[in-house]
Amino acid sequence: MIYFLATVAAIAGFLFGYDEGVIAVVRPSLDKDFPMGPLVAGFMTAAVPLGALAAAGLAGRIIDRFGRRRVLMAAAALFALGALIAAAITAVWMLVLARLILGLAIGVAAVGAPLYIAETAPHRIRGALVSTYQLAITIGILVSYLTGLFISGDGTWRTMFGLGAVPGLLFLAGLAFLPESPRWLVLKGFPDDARASLRRLRAAGWPVDGELDEMVRSAQAQAGRKTGYRALLEPAIRPALIVAVGLFFLQQLSGINAVIYYAPQIFSHAGFDSASTQMLATVGVGTVNLLTTVLAMFLIDRIGRRPLLILGFAGASAAMLVIVLAVIEPTLVPSWVIIVVLLLYIASFAISLGPLPHVMMSEIFPLRVRGLGMSMASISNWGFNFIVVFSFPLMLAGPGLAFTFTIFAVICLGGIFFTMTRVPETTGLSLEAIETHCHSGRPLVTLKRGVAAGAAVAAEDD
Ligand code: BGC
Repeated sequence: MIYFLATVAAIAGFLFGYDEGVIAVVRPSLDKDFPMGPLVAGFMTAAVPLGALAAAGLAGRIIDRFGRRRVLMAAAALFALGALIAAAITAVWMLVLARLILGLAIGVAAVGAPLYIAETAPHRIRGALVSTYQLAITIGILVSYLTGLFISGDGTWRTMFGLGAVPGLLFLAGLAFLPESPRWLVLKGFPDDARASLRRLRAAGWPVDGELDEMVRSAQAQAGRKTGYRALLEPAIRPALIVAVGLFFLQQLSGINAVIYYAPQIFSHAGFDSASTQMLATVGVGTVNLLTTVLAMFLIDRIGRRPLLILGFAGASAAMLVIVLAVIEPTLVPSWVIIVVLLLYIASFAISLGPLPHVMMSEIFPLRVRGLGMSMASISNWGFNFIVVFSFPLMLAGPGLAFTFTIFAVICLGGIFFTMTRVPETTGLSLEAIETHCHSGRPLVTLKRGVAAGAAVAAEDD
């Protein structure tokens, strides 16, 4: 059941990726029917990240109040509605409206889906299961690129937009068969429903009562503590907020969406003039992104979050610096090397900076502020996404590719320092063990050691 749940919840990621990527590929046929000036086109494109940004701010409260599953069902209905409106529009303002609706759905689902998976998964495979969400994002991006490669011609934009309704409806139908998060049920004071939910989620013979006891004890320990946005600034929770917001800042400022949104332009700047080479290299970007995310899912619960992050930041900054060198001194680096290095950059991203911020934001906040904390992390994700995507063309036209990529490389180097000094190792720990450590007064970054020490003391006491 848990694998089915992770697959259904991850459809939200597919829609995130599809709606991100589709706008690049529908433009040629859309422009024939609705010619748009740069300002209108920019606003129409940015409507998704803007809607998502607005929804991310509200998502935490709504999800805490109405439940993870019910809110995801509402988001699924919005996905289908937005896609159908986009396919049927008769004026540009309707498309802006449709994309705003899609953005709202994405913003809510980007908080709700990873949270729902993290709260229902057994902790030994939590990292891999939450990563299915990132895997689905990469599949969505690749499918939209491929759709662009295979479907072309007048009016095809309606089909491409309308296709988004199919996963939206599948998402809705799948959710109808799933139970609510047991942790949310405990939070709301329904332990019996939580037990029933756990029974459905776990294999026969699994010690459901022990798991439930841990959830109830943890919720009782939290009772009476503050819950609103202010609580995020308490000394016990602030470090988690810094990690979650910081990881998304680093994820976006690593330059990933400059590459995802503008891959063909980057290849053209690097000297590849033919449109078909550019498009093929772009599909290569999407494929490597997807395949390496699969590898990340295999490694994430085995070698741990921190080593993967350090590996990812180091690889991404080294790759960026080689591209900078190639742009400044074209004679030094053959042009095929640029494609290889850009793919290495994508692989470094996908093995760590892609999935890990989504995974970690769903793990490090105590239950009473989990929704709100994830809302803030998501605002960071969409806010910095918007800034990078919006400013990248201006940076290319102004200071140029080498300068912009140098900034990305330096920020990735900063990411290594941030990981070493701030990011805790959550691999293999239950959400409740992480929560107890947050309130122990010990620094968050010492999490794994702290929990091991606590367990040793408990064993001695026994
Ligand atoms: C990021 C997106 C990005 C995608 C690329 C996600 O984790 O949040 O902004 O486009 O990865 O795979």
